[in-house]
Formats: sequence, structure tokens, C-alpha cells
Amino acid sequence: AEHSASFGYGKIILLGEHSVVYGRHAIATPIGLTIQAEVTHQEHGTELVIARWDTDAAYDPIGAGLAEQVTALIAERLGLAGKGMRVDVFPHLPRASGLGASAALAVAIIRAIADRFGLAISDSEVSSLAFECERIVHGTPSGIDNTVATFGRSILFRNPNMASDAAAPEIADIVTPGPIQIVIGLTGVRSLTSHTVGIVRAAWEKNPARYEAIFSQIDELVLAGVGALRRGDLAELGDLMNMNHGLLGALQVSSPELETLVGVARRAGALGAKLTGGGGGGAMIAVTEPGAAESVGSAMRQAGFVTYLTEIR
Ligand code: MEV
Repeated sequence: AEHSASFGYGKIILLGEHSVVYGRHAIATPIGLTIQAEVTHQEHGTELVIARWDTDAAYDPIGAGLAEQVTALIAERLGLAGKGMRVDVFPHLPRASGLGASAALAVAIIRAIADRFGLAISDSEVSSLAFECERIVHGTPSGIDNTVATFGRSILFRNPNMASDAAAPEIADIVTPGPIQIVIGLTGVRSLTSHTVGIVRAAWEKNPARYEAIFSQIDELVLAGVGALRRGDLAELGDLMNMNHGLLGALQVSSPELETLVGVARRAGALGAKLTGGGGGGAMIAVTEPGAAESVGSAMRQAGFVTYLTEIR
């Protein structure tokens, strides 16, 4: 193609962030916010242009230096090292917010480059290459973000073999009886997932038995959540989210702003609310009775926060 556009999905983790880095299950679902990329012809060299980075740093997904490293790695893995190309990236996802911007960026660039050079690449190849990119950005990603960014479906995910390079994650689709509305709240505080993952790692190293026990407790909530989602049992899903948020607090990855938002959502009638993604700032999510998402979102906005509405389907 002369001209092509491709994208990767942002995501929210419904249950199981952080413990998923230690081989436990997590549930994630794509959101309507994406990162788009487009590759056009250029005689020499690779040029990466990210729309809005100069004017709005909130949309700089991972920082220009890292994005260039990621682009170079992708070109090399696709057998196109040194090929002339211009890669334009259009981020519609705020950065460092726990919504999977770095994985969505990698997926968008991979698809755009493959498309421009007519390379056939399967979804699982896209996802594993995005996983390699995530390793540059995060250090020890579980692989859940690149999986959802690629496939764009609600999944139960587990990477049983985090230590091995040949890690083949277990992925199962989750289908709900009908769409479930979720309110996303942004704290406005940027937080890098690599940072909070590092905090948990350091604490785990000091006291592995205690932390493994918390991870296993979260795993039980996640597995109960699969049933709740498949039945469309929102009250149960809400309880599980509240408990998961408590255990994330035990892992020290919440923040004052997250606690405020979670409190506002619960007082406005949310069935459950929790931080989502890396924590330490970033985003939270709330599940409500059918039809109540708008009023819960409005309470969160009145408290001064930015919200998005999304649906699990
Ligand atoms: C980030 O979206 C979720 C974490 O569990 C990190 C990971 O799984 O790579 C915090």
C-alpha cells in the first residue's frame, strides 16, 4: 500500500494487576482509546513523528528516546533495519496512566510497518514482538498489555513462565451476557508502571512468602471474577474489585488521589471501584448498576477528575 494506518488498543485491567507479573491470572479488556500509526515512504533513514508530543506532553506515550528504540527494534525484527520510512504516531491515550499506552504504541507501529512493506504478520507474531518492545520499556512485563493491545478482546490471562524467554501465555476469551459499563477515572498523576512494578519487586524480595500469599489471594478473586463476568453478576464483580483494591493497597501501589477517586465513586453508588494498571497514580475503574455509570462519572468529574466511559463486551 502507498499509504496505510494501523492501531493498538488501550486497556484496563479489571482484576489481577501486579500479581500477574508473578504468574497469577488477570482479566483485562480493551478500551475505545487507541494509538494509531501510519508509515509513509521516505528515501533514507527512519523518522518517527509523534503528533501532539511537542504541544501536549500528556500524550507522549513513553518518551521520544524509548519510542525510537522501540521503532528500531521493530524494523530490525521485521527484517527492515535501515530501510527508509517515516512513521507517524497519533496517540489518543494519555501516557503513564496505566491504560497500556506503551503496548498500544508498539502494536500500532508493528502493524503500520508490516502493512506498508506488505509483510504478512499474524496477531500472535504482532503480540510477541510488542512483548519484546514492552521489555525495553518495563523490564518485566507480564505480557497482558501487548496481548489486549493486539487482540482487542476481553481476556483471562496468565503467563506461567515469567522467568523463561519462551514464555507462552495462557489466554482465554471472556464473553459477558451483555455489555457492562465501566467508568474510568484519571488521577492526573503520571506514574510509570516500571516504577510501581519495581516497588512490588523490592518488597517481594525482602519477604517472598508474605507477598506470594497476597498474590495467591488476588488470584482467587480473579478466578471468581471470571464467573461473575460470564454470568453478568455486577454486584459480585463490584465486591471482587473492592477486595482487589484493598490487596493492591497492601502491595503499596495505591496513592492519595486513587483513594479519593475510589471513595467518590463508591459514595456515588458504584458497586465496586479499584485502581487499574500499575497504580501509584494513573487510573482507576468503577462498575455500576446498569444505567448508573453516567451519574457515578459525573460525581467523579465534579470532584475535579477526567473520566471516560467504556464497555466490557
Ligand atoms: C500493567 O498494565 C499491569 C501490571 O501488572 C504490569 C504487567 O502486567 O506487566 C502492573
